[in-house]
Amino acid sequence: MPHSTTAPTLGVGMVGYAFMGAAHSQGWRTVARAFDLPLTPVMAAVCGRDPEAVAAAAGRLGWAAAETDWRALIAREDVQLVDICTPGDSHAEIAIAALEAGKHVLCEKPLANNEAEAQAMVEAARAARDRGQVAMVGFNYRRVPALAHARRLIAEGRLGSLRHLRATYLQDWGTDPAGPLVWRMRKEKAGSGALGDLGAHVVDLAQYLTGEPITGVSAQVETFIRRRPLPGDPERTGEVTVDDAALFTGRLASGALASFEVSRLAAGRKNALTIEVNGAEGSLSFDLERLNELEFHDHTLPAAEAGFRRILVTEPDHPYLEGWWPPGHGLGYEHTFTHQARDLVRAIAEGGRPAPGFAEGLQVQRVLAAVEESARNDSVFTPVPLPARDEQGE
Ligand SMILES: NC(=O)c1ccc[n+]([C@@H]2O[C@H](COP(=O)([O-])OP(=O)(O)OC[C@H]3O[C@@H](n4cnc5c(N)ncnc54)[C@H](O)[C@@H]3O)[C@@H](O)[C@H]2O)c1
Repeated sequence: MPHSTTAPTLGVGMVGYAFMGAAHSQGWRTVARAFDLPLTPVMAAVCGRDPEAVAAAAGRLGWAAAETDWRALIAREDVQLVDICTPGDSHAEIAIAALEAGKHVLCEKPLANNEAEAQAMVEAARAARDRGQVAMVGFNYRRVPALAHARRLIAEGRLGSLRHLRATYLQDWGTDPAGPLVWRMRKEKAGSGALGDLGAHVVDLAQYLTGEPITGVSAQVETFIRRRPLPGDPERTGEVTVDDAALFTGRLASGALASFEVSRLAAGRKNALTIEVNGAEGSLSFDLERLNELEFHDHTLPAAEAGFRRILVTEPDHPYLEGWWPPGHGLGYEHTFTHQARDLVRAIAEGGRPAPGFAEGLQVQRVLAAVEESARNDSVFTPVPLPARDEQGE
């Protein structure tokens, strides 16, 4: 594995240190060990609100210092990149402040809790780009090697013109009605439920894999469990103000048909993301539970030989594999965060635009908003506004 220890440094400051904070820390710790980078990330400081807990997290996760106010983190001279791993209600405020302070930004998905916030973030990113800063959204599943490879095959035309895309993203942690009313079930914190949490990923993947925007949707959403015990006070309950599940169909710009199902109440399904694309000349199929594999059917072969075959995506010329192990020695979930860090650091060093930028995050938000609008209107087909010309590539 190459090491890039003599390169100039990039100071990273991260806000939030729980699930995504731990995953991003893993990425920052490993990225310069696995890949040759023009800049070496330095884990300068992590921010939380509880002084003791954030100091403990800094030690555990490998951050040099701890802060208790994200404004102080942004102001640090040793921080050039702000990595936002907090719930969606704080993404816009932190990201815009960081961009205005001259910092690069990586922001977890969904970009914001609504379209207006996402729009303001795109505008801040555009102004910052003119000053040489970059802004990226953490849609980490783009960095699963099999999915990056799938995109490459589709872009090369191996599937021909696209007809279908079907995606599911299913979890079951919401199944028990005794489960507490965590922030993910409150609209003012999370924006939406399974839709923004899981749906954002599959909407982004659909647009990423095909290179086409979703142009309209027809949707149903449901909240099966309407009240839940309050965290820390199980005798009292509060209202669940987001969806538990969303089911929607849509169209891609080429006219291909797409379907999506996302749920937190799919008993037995833990983190089950599947996506399949069918074209005139072939099909691709992916299952996150077997993330080193990609199923490919080449429909141009004679029927007697054709059929889905399993590509083990662990060869050195598969995306991201040059940094890792010999063929057949598979990767896992955590590697997506290392790959995300790699792509972002390279874009910063090369003055490029990392993908997905904030405009792509906004476009996902527009699809989510159209899903909610359609669901409110008895599933009527609801067009999704296409990106404005000056948003593209932001
Ligand atoms: N890319 C993925 O696959 C993925 C997976 C899970 C979550 N997420 C996204 O990551 C974000 C965080 O989710 P999570 O699962 O890590 O949540 P979490 O509850 O595990 O962690 C949230 C963290 O933010 C901190 N925090 C909240 N408000 C803060 C503030 N004002 N200042 C400083 N710290 C603050 C909390 O203390 C906690 O450390 C969300 O946007 C979520 O949608 C992405």
